[in-house]
Amino acid sequence: MSASTAFNRPNARSAKAAAVTVPPDFIWGVSTSSYQIEGATREDGRGPSVWDTMVAQKGKIANDDTGDVACDHYHRYPEDIALMRELGVQAYRFSVAWPRVLPKGRGAANEKGLAFYDRLIDALLAAGIEPWLCLYHWDLPQALDDLGGWLVRDSAGWFSDYAALIARRYGDRVKRFATFNEPSVFTFFGYGRESDAIGATDTPFLSRTIHHVNLAHGAAVDVLHALVRGAACGAIHNWLPIRTAGKGDEKVAALLDEYWNLAFPEPQLHGAYSPTLARAIEPYMQAGDLARICRPVEWFGLNQYGPSYVKANPEAPMGFDLVDGPADARRSPIGWVIDANAFRETLLHLHQRYRLPIYVTENGLGGPDQPDAAGEIVDEERIAYLDDHTKALATAISAGADVRGYFVWSLLDNFEWNRGYGTRFGIVYIDYPTQRRIPKASFRWYAQLIKGARQRA
Ligand code: FCB
Repeated sequence: MSASTAFNRPNARSAKAAAVTVPPDFIWGVSTSSYQIEGATREDGRGPSVWDTMVAQKGKIANDDTGDVACDHYHRYPEDIALMRELGVQAYRFSVAWPRVLPKGRGAANEKGLAFYDRLIDALLAAGIEPWLCLYHWDLPQALDDLGGWLVRDSAGWFSDYAALIARRYGDRVKRFATFNEPSVFTFFGYGRESDAIGATDTPFLSRTIHHVNLAHGAAVDVLHALVRGAACGAIHNWLPIRTAGKGDEKVAALLDEYWNLAFPEPQLHGAYSPTLARAIEPYMQAGDLARICRPVEWFGLNQYGPSYVKANPEAPMGFDLVDGPADARRSPIGWVIDANAFRETLLHLHQRYRLPIYVTENGLGGPDQPDAAGEIVDEERIAYLDDHTKALATAISAGADVRGYFVWSLLDNFEWNRGYGTRFGIVYIDYPTQRRIPKASFRWYAQLIKGARQRA
């Protein structure tokens, strides 16, 4: 039975899919990332990334899952593009696996790896779908991590050389580039929490990596603009609505705001670090650095899922814990708090603060989706979530926010980092043993939403 049958069920919120009004050239899309979907981690000369190293350690990932096969997108990309075409999206945001094209992170390029993205990009263009290429979605080449990774200042040069390779190879066909996906997430969890913090407001590893990633961003933006005619560059930020767990948590909320929300957009777009961070970064700052970081970009990428709650804890790194929030909050099946109003407010706030065209590059809902007895995946909670958030987006636009596009995370169920494959964010279900793709009810819903919005525009 097809997923479109599920769509006709009385309870599915299909009827509401028609209600969103956006500007005529609005871009609807879907997002994925290399390590989460490609698989083929040892094929055609790809080098290992820090995630290959991570998954090899027992107990780090739920069920000890790995990205070795993932969605086998490396081989099945034509089928995935056919799904996108059926969906009616105008753009597809993917990331390049740095160690696939530069197995050691720098030096000799891997022709077979480069050729994979040629095939992918050409097939997207042939399907009338614009490729949005993200340079970095967390899969740092292991060889560079061995040299210190983002802790060393040389990383900015490694990254801009990698950006130059990508620009030269694909710049004739790709014009949309994101430098980093969610730099606050991989610095905070990759370095901040595991660092030997020496005080509540001083986290040397974290501060240092923040600065180096910012330098890498600025250098890559320059390279992309120099080498690609008409390049439209941006960075993708996970901007959190931050809430206090209780009285007395205001100070740690402000600190988290600096390290999570402001650490990248402020120096990149306003040329300055916020006060606490500026002090922490002082030892790593060299003359001219802020000018190197603050380079003109064309757009702001926002990833958002819901608000986070923070609670002071003098024992914890940086003096706080991220906590669950109120027991009565609306939540996704994996416990993430849902608040579409906060999403609308963020869009308006970012518009006021940075005055750049905004693209929502990730938004979606994760859960343990399974086919029902009829073999259908009727993901009503996801539909309700997407419905609320696309409406909030339309409201933000009518209130003046310059939002130009929206990408659902994710096209496919995939390797959800430490949660492994048990948490599914896709609008297409993956039956991992067979690699069969089954569109969920949300896929049909999104297709209708796109069609309706485009007819009205
Ligand atoms: C974001 C990541 C993406 C995915 C979603 C659920 O933080 O960018 O890779 O894991 O969360």
